[in-house]
Amino acid sequence: MRRKLVVGNWKMHGSRVSNAELLSGLLAARPYVADVAVCAPFPYLSDCAVTLAGSDVRWGAQDVSAHAQGAYTGEVSSEMLAELGCRYAIVGHSERRAYHAEDDALVAAKAQAALARGVTPIVCVGETLEQRDAGQTEEVVKRQLSVVIHRLAHCAGEIVVAYEPVWAIGTGRTATPEQAQVVHAVLRAQLHAATGHADRMRLLYGGSVKADNARALFSQPDIDGGLIGGASLKAADFIAICRAAE
Ligand code: 13P
Repeated sequence: MRRKLVVGNWKMHGSRVSNAELLSGLLAARPYVADVAVCAPFPYLSDCAVTLAGSDVRWGAQDVSAHAQGAYTGEVSSEMLAELGCRYAIVGHSERRAYHAEDDALVAAKAQAALARGVTPIVCVGETLEQRDAGQTEEVVKRQLSVVIHRLAHCAGEIVVAYEPVWAIGTGRTATPEQAQVVHAVLRAQLHAATGHADRMRLLYGGSVKADNARALFSQPDIDGGLIGGASLKAADFIAICRAAE
């Protein structure tokens, strides 16, 4: 039985004051049956480390460098994240693929760099609306994931995968539970062929998850939780989604 995982992706939102309020709300609502984590902007990670210390609410970053160290202005290494106690790093989010020209090879390198320091990469894959309409969904997500699997080789079983259809992100247009399940089953089969133990891996769905649609999504056999954007910014909304994963 896989334990569900619900991760908030704050994106470029928050302030020290609003984060403190959000985190204290999350802490006050414990215990959770599901695993719960928040991925905050880099400047707030040390606040997360302090505020969440000793609790089972985990925290992560929204990106990580593919490099271990060196002259890479503006980048943050997995070693730096690990030093703070960071548990997760989102890699290959569609916003980074689209606005920062990240390709599959870079995403795979970032996933490898994270794992090398014990930070679990949450590897995002997903098709655009154009690709879905052209019937290319499976081909696109399998290609995105295959580059990561190939690069990680025997460590591929240690990642978390998030299926985030680009057309569902921030649009209020969620994939139906059935649409999401079809893709999750494809991804799990691909992971299983590579690792032999994808039955133990967690596959999250992301894209306009809200309190009122979370339960139906999370009750699909291959959906092990969610990666939540907008609805992770208010404690009550995010807590309701975490409860829907129980
Ligand atoms: P929304 O939940 O705001 O659609 O964002 C999803 C997402 O991109 C999470 O990484």
